[in-house]
Amino acid sequence: MGSAAIRNSAGDETIFVPTGAALGAEVHGVDLRRLDDAQFAAIYRAWLDHSVLLFRGQALADADLIAFSRRFGGLDFAPVQENGRVSVEGFPELYVVSNVLGSDGVPIGSLGAGEAVWHTDMSYLPQPPKASMLFSLEVPAAGGDTWFSSMYSAYDSLPAALRLRVEGLRVKHDGTFNSGGFVRAGVTPTDDPRTSPGTLHPLVCRHPATGRKLLYLGRRRNAYIEGLGLAESDALLDEIWAYATVDSISWRHRWRVGDLVLWDNRATMHRRDPFDASERRVMHRTQIKGEAPPAA
Ligand code: SIN
Repeated sequence: MGSAAIRNSAGDETIFVPTGAALGAEVHGVDLRRLDDAQFAAIYRAWLDHSVLLFRGQALADADLIAFSRRFGGLDFAPVQENGRVSVEGFPELYVVSNVLGSDGVPIGSLGAGEAVWHTDMSYLPQPPKASMLFSLEVPAAGGDTWFSSMYSAYDSLPAALRLRVEGLRVKHDGTFNSGGFVRAGVTPTDDPRTSPGTLHPLVCRHPATGRKLLYLGRRRNAYIEGLGLAESDALLDEIWAYATVDSISWRHRWRVGDLVLWDNRATMHRRDPFDASERRVMHRTQIKGEAPPAA
């Protein structure tokens, strides 16, 4: 897909420039606080086409981030953070991703400064969000990059025999650990995926808006394929995950302050590189309500 552009009624041009990777496009020429319906319709279409959109140089107050997010649908309330804090005062939809300590010595957000492993947001829920947005307020000088991987490309890249093997299977998505490896608030930790809290979803799904087939994997730790022995399930998951996390179907984002990244949470996975824990990284995230991932 090449670059595309639209003009709004005032003549302002919005340009969509694909990253050149398997997914992702950068959107130029928009202020997300002031979008008309034509611009929003083009952004919505591009989000479905490219799975991840990057908007640089945005100046969004929390209320602006919520308002832009709401154009995509109703918002989920933010989960309780791993430190027990509940989101941002006055904005229950905002989740803080940060390693920064508050004046009480407790982190103001989740995920720390370590690696956040490949995952789809909140896939342990029966109805995971259809989209997530992350807005950068403070970024470290190096590290903390976020990688996205196309689950359409992952499905397309499976050898024919493996595609046949996984068709119709369901995966248990574990709700014990978040992507930073922290135990979620209120959960008793276990490493047995058969008994841990979570939800079964089809392994091969059909995207409800694009109609394309994709792999729906969630998170590797504590994942389990229904009906298989644990060792057989682990071996098959390892084989599938090897296709879903290769660089050839991924795009890496290096953050600057004022970046807004919007992703299709049904069609992608993401992970974050670690960074120097003495540096500050502060992100605000919203999530748009989704539906149960439909089987292909
Ligand atoms: C997330 O996994 O939702 C956060 C990713 C990041 O911190 O870049």
